Amino acid sequence: MQKSWYKEMAVYQVWPRSFCDGNGDGIGDLKGVLGKLDYIKSLGVDAIWFSPLYKSPQKDYGYDIADYRSIQPEYGTMEDFKAVLDGAHERGLRVIMDLVVNHTSDQHEWFLKGIEDPTSKYHSYYHWYKGKGKRRPNNWMSTFAGPAWEYNEKNDEYYLHLFAVEQPDLNMDNPEVRREVKDIMKFWLDMGVDGFREDVITFISKKEGLPSSPYWFPVATGIENYMHGPHLDEYLLEFKNDVLSKYDCMTVGEAPMMTTKKALKHITEGPNQHLNMMFHFEHMAADCLFYSWFKTKFSLKRLKKVFTRWQNDLYGKAWNALYMENHDQPRVINRYGSLKYRVESAKMLAVTYICQSGTPFIYQGQEIGMVNYPFTSIDQYTDVSTVNNYGVAKSLLGAEKALNLANYASRDNARTCVQWNAEKNAGFTTADEPWFWVNPNYTEINVEAAEKDPNSILNFYRKLLKFRKENEIVIYGDYKEHLKRSKDLYVYERNYEGQRLLVICSYTEKPVQFTAPAGFDLTKGECVLSNYDDTSVCTNGFTTKPYETRVYLFK
Ligand code: NOJ
Repeated sequence: MQKSWYKEMAVYQVWPRSFCDGNGDGIGDLKGVLGKLDYIKSLGVDAIWFSPLYKSPQKDYGYDIADYRSIQPEYGTMEDFKAVLDGAHERGLRVIMDLVVNHTSDQHEWFLKGIEDPTSKYHSYYHWYKGKGKRRPNNWMSTFAGPAWEYNEKNDEYYLHLFAVEQPDLNMDNPEVRREVKDIMKFWLDMGVDGFREDVITFISKKEGLPSSPYWFPVATGIENYMHGPHLDEYLLEFKNDVLSKYDCMTVGEAPMMTTKKALKHITEGPNQHLNMMFHFEHMAADCLFYSWFKTKFSLKRLKKVFTRWQNDLYGKAWNALYMENHDQPRVINRYGSLKYRVESAKMLAVTYICQSGTPFIYQGQEIGMVNYPFTSIDQYTDVSTVNNYGVAKSLLGAEKALNLANYASRDNARTCVQWNAEKNAGFTTADEPWFWVNPNYTEINVEAAEKDPNSILNFYRKLLKFRKENEIVIYGDYKEHLKRSKDLYVYERNYEGQRLLVICSYTEKPVQFTAPAGFDLTKGECVLSNYDDTSVCTNGFTTKPYETRVYLFK
């Protein structure tokens, strides 16, 4: 296994709109980020991934880009960005940008020019098709619900949008579009950024002719025609060979519906590697089918199976991207942990994934155990996918059930303002009104309170990340799961250069009798991390306390 900085780093994700408002207009911005760089550094992370900062009408909060080379005015200027970039680098923090090139905003000049003059080269930057009589070009449905086609009267044509109506898909088969993408990459890399998180990158190549799907789903009908399209490998390799390989940078591709087998085609180390890592979604489906709107009961066995498959299938060949939260996922404590045992379960969940082999990503607010917002009405939501999915759910299940689902599944849960202190608006802004909700629990759950408490979730994250940094076994060790059949305990070991690590995580408040696997004598190991003070051992095991976690190191 080759060593590399991107394997050793931990990454903190900033969703700028809700992170910190530095100019008092109620919206998070770069000035706010600048003021928090020391805080981010203090966590023990090595890089920041910024969700899109570019100029955008914000229909999908920056994932609809109108200009790839300028900063959203609400967030500041290019000078402000450069100050953040320099400030991060001075502190030894790398900066990863979000590269969103499956689609643009409908306000991007390429799109507007292509409508204005259908004979211009910009017209073929997108997927424009004539309808079939009065019907749309095919039966594909958007990932955000509703048809994936929008009619444009001026030219009597439809354009493809796999996401919101305002997010037309780029035609990556057009070499001019790929040249633009490479130019955008160069622009940011030349400025000094250290890599890209590539948004739905596995959707960029569509099957020729965009054939209709024989299947029907309420969302994303047709996905089999683009989720791993025919020219994906070729385009990713082109980006790598022509641009990325010329810089000391890293890439992590976002890849819905990804399996280890397919992922290995892209991330296996060697000359044909396309990306350094991939964000798959399989472990975020332990309480749902595919994604959180198809809710099921949480199953630890399902979760463990996925983790183990990715750990085993990739080990020695490719590198994992580890996460449990981001701006698209409701807060994980509500899903896999416990509100009653918020602190204990938050720590246990952190150990679960950060002690695995891979690069851990931590989403803003996760480090203080932020939880879902108590939404009571659909009118309180702002996310386009929530509003659309709610519409579908309401027509199938009725308003009450649809709202319950939204409360559980909405991405808006992750997008409330970061809770910095117990003052007005949780210290997020000095404006009277922040742009979005502040969870009323901010008087208890906030960074300032967590700083003061040595047993806080925040200080646990610091300890955990420090331990990872100081112990190569956590980064480069191999992985072996124990007690696979347990519905309550997740237990795995790591091995590296004669050292062993045993990780024990309880996913229940019930007491469970744990006995160390054969070959481990707990009295000979050091309990290096735990979420309870009492780490006593009895006959080579212990009875777990609610959501208990312990990590033992054997040297
Ligand atoms: C994935 C992003 O993470 C999400 O926030 C966005 O809505 C879609 N891609 C479309 O860009």
